[in-house]
Amino acid sequence: MELRVAPAELDLAEATLVIGVLEDMQPVPGSEEDFAHADMGTIEAAGFEGKVKQTLALPHPEARTMLLVGMGTEVDFESVRAASGNAVRAAKTERVVTRLAQIGIDGATRAVTEGSLLGGYEFKQYKSNGGKVKVEVVDVVDGDEAEMTTAATVCRSVIRARDWVNTPAIDLSPAQLAEQMAEAMTAAGLEVEIWDEDRIREEKLGALIGVAAGSDRPPRLVRATYRPDGAKSHLALIGKGITFDSGGLSIKSASFMEEMKVDMSGAAIVASAAEAIAELDIPISVTVVAPLTDNAVGGNATRPGDVLRPVKGPTIEVLNTDAEGRLVLADGLGVASEAEPDLMIDVATLTGAMHVSLGDKVAGFFASDTGTAELVRTAASRAGERFWEMPLVHDYRKQLDSNIADIKNVSGSRYGGAITAALFLYEYTDERPWVHMDIAGPAISRETAGDQVKGGTGIGVRTLVEVARHLADS
Ligand code: BES
Ligand code: ZN
Ligand code: ZN
Repeated sequence: MELRVAPAELDLAEATLVIGVLEDMQPVPGSEEDFAHADMGTIEAAGFEGKVKQTLALPHPEARTMLLVGMGTEVDFESVRAASGNAVRAAKTERVVTRLAQIGIDGATRAVTEGSLLGGYEFKQYKSNGGKVKVEVVDVVDGDEAEMTTAATVCRSVIRARDWVNTPAIDLSPAQLAEQMAEAMTAAGLEVEIWDEDRIREEKLGALIGVAAGSDRPPRLVRATYRPDGAKSHLALIGKGITFDSGGLSIKSASFMEEMKVDMSGAAIVASAAEAIAELDIPISVTVVAPLTDNAVGGNATRPGDVLRPVKGPTIEVLNTDAEGRLVLADGLGVASEAEPDLMIDVATLTGAMHVSLGDKVAGFFASDTGTAELVRTAASRAGERFWEMPLVHDYRKQLDSNIADIKNVSGSRYGGAITAALFLYEYTDERPWVHMDIAGPAISRETAGDQVKGGTGIGVRTLVEVARHLADS
């Protein structure tokens, strides 16, 4: 899909003209003239009430159709983004002309761009008859060219992350994912290394090796660096890259295993965010570390009770092989901290407990200190992504005490599982400023609405880009 900035007076022939309508049946600013062509009787008969998610196609003297899209009660960034997504899915023409950027709020063009590109996203590689979205071009009336270009760059990275998350594990081994991540980041100007199994052993990443032991597909670790001139700050991004999580010998039940191709979302998101940061020339240094492996049940698989030695930090007694994300991240954080970054952020589909706590529309994050927490909150809010701060309750650390090693990978308690997982990771942060994002819930969307479509969401990419912008500005 292509987006273009268009002038106020333009040819509407064969196009769908998108008009936002609020619940009080008022058109959004800039659309009054066109809305005057709408027949109120038809609107009423069709049951269109301006609710978010509603759309209604009506005749228009110049356009092929006028598509009314519900805006709910507010004209703001969120409603414009949602309406733009709903519009591109409802439109039946190849060309859409939208007046939603004419509403006179900050970021209107970004909202239209994100809604159109992300809401119009389809993963059609495995569909014999292609996708459903007809729209190929969106003309954004009075849009801001620079804002559109920037937003489209970020959206391309979100889409890249979604594609990886949606790809079945059979077609995305650690080696394949590593190659594809390297390709994307190299093209954006990062230096990329792929560590194979021998290198991972040489580097003594014993926790990653332990998780990989049960799979016939060998692990990889992707390490990428971006070092622009004049970089103000150094951000390390660490992503959990479990290409399929069967649970290992502590095997998952069938229903919990169904979605586990998504367990490499963290790796997909950090690589995509780094790609966007480099493409946008944001002047900060970035180090990406993504440990990639299956968590499988082969004859050599790590057993409950085994002890693993990560590259740095506490030795680990593995009591549950399904708590594998924290194992590979222990090594990921170890490798990242060697680069001496100013801030480390890990992204992971880490715990079912996080999914239980916040559901699938909000991600949780933990921060080493209040200043860093505030930075993430602000970045997420600017990005229009939902992140909620969770407490690092250090009192719970004793639940991870092991009889024979320095730490065990699961707590004895059923409660606070997302917190004990975060406390485990904290042990490997070298006491540097650090953020842990647990996206187990919202890594995938179970519904199609606004800028979200069923499947991988790429949540976090937009927030990480905002974090980078903030670090560059401060
Ligand atoms: N990959 C899962 C977490 C997950 C759950 C991701 C739901 C996406 C959706 C993780 O590796 C896991 O299995 N965690 C266990 C930890 C437990 C054994 C302490 C969990 O949450 O059940
Ligand atoms: Zn697991
Ligand atoms: Zn997992």
